[in-house]
Amino acid sequence: MAIVEIKKDIFWTGVVDWNVRTFHGHTYNTNRGTTYNAYLILDDKIALVDTVAGQFADELIEKIKQLIPPEKIDYIIANHVETDHSGALPRLLKLCPSAKVFGTKKCQEGLAKHYGGNWDFQVVKTADKLELGRRTLTFIEAAMLHWPDSMFTYCAEERLLLPNDAFGQHYATCERFDDEVDQGILMDEAAKYYGNILWPLSPLVLKKIEEIVKMDIAIDMIAPSHGIIWRKDPGKIINAYLSWAKNETKPKVVVVYETMWGATEKMARKISEGITDKGISVKLIDIATADRTEVIKEMLDAKGYIIGSSTHNNDMLTAIAGFLAFLKGLKPQKRIAAVFGSYGWAGGAAKSIESVLKEAGIEIAQPSLAVQYVPTDEELRKCLEFGREFASKLL
Ligand code: FEO
Repeated sequence: MAIVEIKKDIFWTGVVDWNVRTFHGHTYNTNRGTTYNAYLILDDKIALVDTVAGQFADELIEKIKQLIPPEKIDYIIANHVETDHSGALPRLLKLCPSAKVFGTKKCQEGLAKHYGGNWDFQVVKTADKLELGRRTLTFIEAAMLHWPDSMFTYCAEERLLLPNDAFGQHYATCERFDDEVDQGILMDEAAKYYGNILWPLSPLVLKKIEEIVKMDIAIDMIAPSHGIIWRKDPGKIINAYLSWAKNETKPKVVVVYETMWGATEKMARKISEGITDKGISVKLIDIATADRTEVIKEMLDAKGYIIGSSTHNNDMLTAIAGFLAFLKGLKPQKRIAAVFGSYGWAGGAAKSIESVLKEAGIEIAQPSLAVQYVPTDEELRKCLEFGREFASKLL
């Protein structure tokens, strides 16, 4: 992808990773790929904000060379240690050995642990400034959004916020700006990103946004380190983050289940019917074949979760167990749940599921529903009622 001038003399010099399909190990399915965004600011002093993943170092360097000889870079702002943004840093610094690197104390420690390197590093804190000439960069520490080292960089003259991972999306496109892409896909990817990465950090997200509002800084562009740049309506993503961080939900139910011989699935379908009987929106998901990253996105704005599993070895099945372990780590708040499933001769799944949900801080709204072997017509009627009862709690 070509260089893009996002503001006068400020250039996107990132790369598009069209084919990456897993991220953070295998915890995130990046079905639409991603981008690693780096920004080159040409002023009396030249600053690069973030780099790209190491395997794309050549592409970053090539883009920089189209604008300036890399040795002319004076400053590199390292907003975040994680290797998708710092991987190209050691290669780049070989081409501009006198460049000074700026980041938080934790960033300095993290970069040293990752790369060694005896670089000229200046530790910065919130409100510290770096004069470039016509512009000044201001640093804002953003610890645990989403690593201890994370930091935002702000340029007042351009009303430009460079928040690294925050407000990003794993979304590979040849377009760079929010007004150039499908809004549904953009917000879908932003929600997926929040739900799967930032959700457990929601109290800190709220605090950081409130802190930035108190700083009374003008923002007319947010340029994150992944995906699309918000220039048409940066308020849209800030408001979405506020809503997600407050755990605001819709009257919507996500039914997630795993079935062994189809009985639990029959129950799930009938329960879902009961939910829609009450006019409540439902998503029915077999976790064994679903994309977990998408399921979490569905759960981000849903008030109710209904979780089901057949019993196997006195416990839930393994795909739902893995899913619930992940969900627990995301610490959803203000949700209600109910549990169901089939069993052969001894139950156990429902108890295990309820136990994990309680540990996750999710309220169990009604007694679980268990059926031996295959549900009879009468038991399917109970499933229907189970769904209706749960839905009525969301009205
Ligand atoms: Fe995109 Fe936390 O790295």
